[in-house]
Amino acid sequence: MARMPLPTPTLHTARLRLRPVTGADADALFALHSSAYVLRYWDAPPWSERARAERFITACRQMAEEGTGARVAVDRVSDGAFIGWCGLSRWNPDYRSASLGYCLGDEAWGRGYATEAARALLQWAFDTLDLNRVQAETDTRNVASARVLEKLGFQREGTLREDCIVNGDVSDSWVYGLLRRQWRPPSGTGPGS
Ligand SMILES: CC(C)(COP(=O)(O)OP(=O)(O)OC[C@H]1O[C@@H](n2cnc3c(N)ncnc32)[C@H](O)[C@@H]1OP(=O)(O)O)[C@@H](O)C(=O)NCCC(=O)NCCS
Repeated sequence: MARMPLPTPTLHTARLRLRPVTGADADALFALHSSAYVLRYWDAPPWSERARAERFITACRQMAEEGTGARVAVDRVSDGAFIGWCGLSRWNPDYRSASLGYCLGDEAWGRGYATEAARALLQWAFDTLDLNRVQAETDTRNVASARVLEKLGFQREGTLREDCIVNGDVSDSWVYGLLRRQWRPPSGTGPGS
């Protein structure tokens, strides 16, 4: 099926800037995804080769060209630092559904940044893509990620038993869903902001 390109947006929140991933992000992406601590509940092992960062960047570009999603780098406005990324993938225009994912460096955790970034991306997606449903999955041990999803209004819909096996470690996942009619737009955003 031929699909239209979907230009990745640049979005501004009170404390963050969300913008397309570029080749200049490779070192920061590699540092982020090679951390065993950051990736401890991820559905794949940490990266051990820098080439993985290049592949990630290529995949971001491909998502935009093929119109399957939008992955944005997240910069902190106060110092311009790259703190991680947030993305919508698996956009299905027939089902009007997509999947949400995010990964921030541990020095940025605990300040509400993941929720702030995901909220802005979701608002853009609901405005632009005519979505009805967004799905997210998280390791059942990943309390922080489950909390982010709940703050965004996602409902826990079920458990995927023994969903992932990463380096021999078997884990269950929770499935979360957010329906358009349950979405509460962030305050201070709307047409023109
Ligand atoms: C999950 C992640 C995105 C959270 O980012 P963050 O910026 O710290 O998230 P926020 O600050 O917006 O919200 C985190 C919430 O979890 C809570 N939390 C964090 N750790 C917790 C813990 N161990 N137990 C209970 N609550 C916890 C925080 O208190 C906060 O909730 P609150 O606002 O009600 O206080 C970040 O830890 C991350 O990127 N981890 C690595 C990648 C990852 O696991 N991604 C998700 C894959 S599904």
